[in-house]
Order: sequence, then structure tokens, then C-alpha cells
Amino acid sequence: MSVEQVDTFWGTLGRNRLTWISPFHSVQDCNLEQGRVAWFLGGQLNVAVNCLDRHVHRAPNKVALIWEKDEPGKEVQITYRELLELTCRLGNTLKRQGVKKGDRVTIYMPPCPLAVASMLACARIGAIHMLVFAGFSAEALADRIQDAQSETVITVNQGLRGGRVTELKQTVDQAVKWCPKVKRVLVSMRTEQKVPMSDLDVPLDEEIMKEDVCCEPVAMDSEDLLFLLYTSGSTGKPKGLVHSQAGYLLYAALTHKYVFDYHDGDVFGCVADIGWITGHSYVVYGPLCNGGTTVLFESTPLYPDPGRYWETVERLQINQFYGAPTAIRLLLRYGDKWVKKYDRSSLKILGSVGEPINTEAWEWYFNVVGEARCPVVDTWWQTETGGICISPRPSDPGDEIRPGLAMRPFFGISPCLLDDKGNVLTENDVSGALCISQAWPGMARTIYNDHKRFLETYLTPYPGFFFTGDGVYRTSEGYYQLTGRLDDVINISGHRLGTAEVEDAVNQHAAVAESAVIGYPHNIKGEGVYVFLVLKKGIYISRETLTADLQELISKKIAKYAAPEYVQITSRLPKTRSGKIMRRVLKKIVENKAHQLGDLTTLEDYEAVQKIIEEHKCLL
Ligand code: PRX
Repeated sequence: MSVEQVDTFWGTLGRNRLTWISPFHSVQDCNLEQGRVAWFLGGQLNVAVNCLDRHVHRAPNKVALIWEKDEPGKEVQITYRELLELTCRLGNTLKRQGVKKGDRVTIYMPPCPLAVASMLACARIGAIHMLVFAGFSAEALADRIQDAQSETVITVNQGLRGGRVTELKQTVDQAVKWCPKVKRVLVSMRTEQKVPMSDLDVPLDEEIMKEDVCCEPVAMDSEDLLFLLYTSGSTGKPKGLVHSQAGYLLYAALTHKYVFDYHDGDVFGCVADIGWITGHSYVVYGPLCNGGTTVLFESTPLYPDPGRYWETVERLQINQFYGAPTAIRLLLRYGDKWVKKYDRSSLKILGSVGEPINTEAWEWYFNVVGEARCPVVDTWWQTETGGICISPRPSDPGDEIRPGLAMRPFFGISPCLLDDKGNVLTENDVSGALCISQAWPGMARTIYNDHKRFLETYLTPYPGFFFTGDGVYRTSEGYYQLTGRLDDVINISGHRLGTAEVEDAVNQHAAVAESAVIGYPHNIKGEGVYVFLVLKKGIYISRETLTADLQELISKKIAKYAAPEYVQITSRLPKTRSGKIMRRVLKKIVENKAHQLGDLTTLEDYEAVQKIIEEHKCLL
């Protein structure tokens, strides 16, 4: 029904789940071939009203946010009434500072109530927010501010993460030097530490206290812009993906409810940073649109020790926990004791996002963290999709879940597999490019100021389809298993091999904590398999033994052709600040193009790369 009777399905949900200022006259006007995507046409609403006011009328004292501060045991609870008041004060402050409907407001803040209120204040007055993850450098921040032509930045004096102070205001000071169009920087005090204030700077905490707690919400058209969020492409500069009002909000709320089986009274704990799309959709918009209680996690999985997540689960009585495989793999290395130390009986559902979750991590998450009673939802989606697109749905009775599989499409999503020539593969037990054949309300509408690039990247590679850039395998039973970015697919003697598939096997070796598999140029086979890996803590094994082990293991798990020629043991894999392994960088290294590593603005640790380059040279 969600795919066949699009207008009835989404029209009913749009009317029932959102509060409108004026109703829409058409459910949608979409044609992927022509690059046209529009939902709930003619309708007007305000996203902040949907996330706040309507819940305040019903339950003003219900907790909206639990700010889980860096220091455990210092959480702060904010009710819907308080969050509405803060949002209104901020909306009035922004207006007084000259921010108008349609202006882009940069938010460079760690997860904190004021950051959420800033997002919602923008939504309330019709401004477009643009969060930049607070771990990005001044240069990356400046690039985004300039691309978005943003005149306003909201930040804090300092950040606090994992017990360490980060000088966010200093980074902003540096960035705005390169951005002459910035007219104001609103600075809130996260710590006591005073920072130098220039003519541009406005002391935010003082200003908001001068403002009224009422701020008239602006009526926004369904297709007006809600936010921009930058994400890396396979090449070139980051893309400012654009999400609009009604469709995005409805899709975030619906996926939040049905993928996580969220019920009134549940405490939802998504530990992603608000600077990423996961934070937008599942820390802020989905849970708040549903009137839920959502956790804002400021810390790290290892602070003050590897029990942090589970101690937080126990203390806040979290019902749904949503995290990333990279963190699960990290914690797995420290053993079960850190998990078992805490009571996890509040947990009902465990979620995974951001990359394929390998079987070992999935099993550990399910068996150890979830005590084999909480369904694990491996959720596949992207910044571009706005919300979860492929995932198990435990809210459906009898919904089957297999380890490491994203399983099945969400309502309204029609996944299609296409081959290199653009043919739709209709059968099962087949691999192909993951495309989506029908528009859905949550999808990005364009790339800010570059619609041509949007069309070229997503809509023209396979005309009539949205191209995700990911590879997928559809099992013989019709379930979906993501195999990694298509740019990471290895072709060995004409055999396609997903790097995720090989990594999954490598990670099953008892000595291996984490790995990245890259295709390197091979004279005879076209490409060969090169494995980078990190050993588990305290384990020693020679490279020769490990190589032989892995060759055997992979031959057994996948096929002989997939066995690696090279195994490089290293202490850290290069990762983005969001924790994704930068295979692109490793690929350059194995291609002996270490001098052309490309854009490294998202790289967390450059030293790790240099070390790998040196080790690689010794290995050849
Ligand atoms: O390759 C897919 C991978 O992450 C990409 C999207 O990254 P981003 O826009 O940063 O959004 C991350 C959070 C939604 C996808 O193209 N990815 C995300 N989730 C999964 C995944 N790969 C496999 N399984 C997943 N569950």
C-alpha cells in the first residue's frame, strides 16, 4: 500500500501525524526522471510547533531532552515547556540580531539543549539551519559557512568531550576570518572559562534572558528549506544537502516510531552527535515530533571508562539504544565485563547505523549487550535519504531479523537493484547498485546552490531512479544486505567482491579487532585484496601466521579468489571524525599514490595515516 497507493498512504499520515496551519491540496508531485520532488503541496506548517507547542498543550511537564553531559551523573532534564520557552527566546534573539526567513544560520556546537533550541528557533522563524560537527577544523567550517553564504554563527566558548576541553570559539574565530560575510557570532558559555569577544560576538546567554518566552511561529510552505547538511562525496568538495519541511519531518517521525517501536513514555537514546544526519533525525526531529523523551549524549563511549554507554543506559533507563558499529567493535575489544557490570533490563531495541555491522559485532551487541532479548535493527540510510530506508521493523509482529542484514525496506521505499548497464535485476540471490525507484517524503531535494550536481550524482546515473552509491545483495529470501560503497567494490579476475564481506570474514579471526579491505592494482587479476587490520588489545601474532590464517579463513568463508595477498598490521585505521574508516585514503596508499591523498578535512588522526604509509613501504 505504501508503494502502490502513495497518495492515500502518505496523505493520511501527513494529515494525521502533522499539525498544519493550512492543509495541503496535493500529496505529491514527483518525477525522478525529471528531477522533480515535492510533497504536501499547498500546505503550510511550522516544524517547531510540531515538535514543541502541540506537546506542551498536552503534557507541558513531560521531559523532552535529557542532556547527558560529559561527566557521568550530571544529566539535566528539560521539559517540553522549558524547551519551548528556550526556543522562543532564541528565536526572538535571532530576529533582534537581524536574522530573517530564509537566512542560513550556522550551528557549531556540541550536543546541548541550546543547540537543539537553536535548530528549533531557526525552524520557528523560518531560517535555515546548518550544523557543522563540532570536531571539524576551522577550514572545514569556513568552507561550509561560505558555501552556505551564512551570516550568523551560533557556538559555545568551549566544548567538553571525554574529559577534554576543545576550544570551539577559537576555531570559529579562525574560520570567520576567512568569511567576511559573517555578521554575528552568538556565543553561549558551556564552561566557566571566559574567551575573548570581538565586535562580531554576542553573549548569547545574556541576550536570550532579555527576550520574551513567546515567539510567533512563521507559516512555512511544505517545500521551504528546513536545513542544509554537508556530507562528503566520493570526490571534490562537500555537498550541502537540502532537506525541506513537511516531508522530512513526517518521515523522521514515522521511521523513529516504527523502526524503534517507540511508545509514549520510552526514553530514546541515540548517541550520535547532532552534527550528523543521525542526530538531526533521531536525536531531534523524529523523537520530538513524536512527543518523546530523547537523550543528548555529549561524551564518548570510553569516558570515563568502557562502561559509559551501559552505565548511562542503567541510570537514564534508556529503552532504545542507537549507536554505530565502530563503537560496538571498539567496546567489544574491552570484553563483556564492562557491559555486565550494569543493569540493561530497560533496553528493548538496539540500533546500528553508519556502516555495515559485521557478524561478530552484531552477535556481541545482540547477545551480550541485549542479553539475546532485544531485537537489533541494522538501519541503512544516508544524509541524502533523511531517514531510515532499509531496516528490520520489530514493531511488526513476526518480523524476522538476521545478523548483519538491513533486511527490508521501510514504508514507501522501493529498493531496486541495477546492473552496470542499468538493467533492473528482479530476481533474488543477486547483487547490484542500490537504487530507489520512487520518491519518498524524506529524501533530500537538492544540493544547495548546485542542483546540477544533485542531478548528476543521484538522478542521472540511472535515469528514473535515485542512486544511493551503495552496493547491495538481495538474498534468496528477498532480504537486503548492504555490501559497502560501490567505490569500494573490488573486482578480482572479474569477480565482484564487497570489501565489507571480506572485512566481515577478517574480523571473525580471534586476533582481529578491526579491519579495512582495499583493492590494489594487480597485474594479472586486475585487483587483489589488501587487508589493513588492528589486533585486539594484548594479542601478538606474526604477520606471516596471520596472513596464512586469513587466506584460509577467507577462502573458506567466501572463495579462494578473495584471499588477501597483503596483510598489514597497524595500530590505528584512519577514520573520519564520525568514525568511518577512510578507505579512500588506504586505497591511495596501496596504489602507491600517498602523495595524492585528496581532501583530508574529515580525517581524525593524520599520524595514523603517516604510520601506515611507512609500514606499507616496509611491506613491499
Ligand atoms: O554506505 C552507506 C553507509 O553510510 C552511508 C551514508 O553515510 P551518511 O550520509 O554519513 O549517513 C550515515 C547515517 C545514516 C551509506 O551510503 N551506511 C549507513 N548505514 C548503513 C550503511 N552501510 C551499511 N549498513 C548500514 N546500516
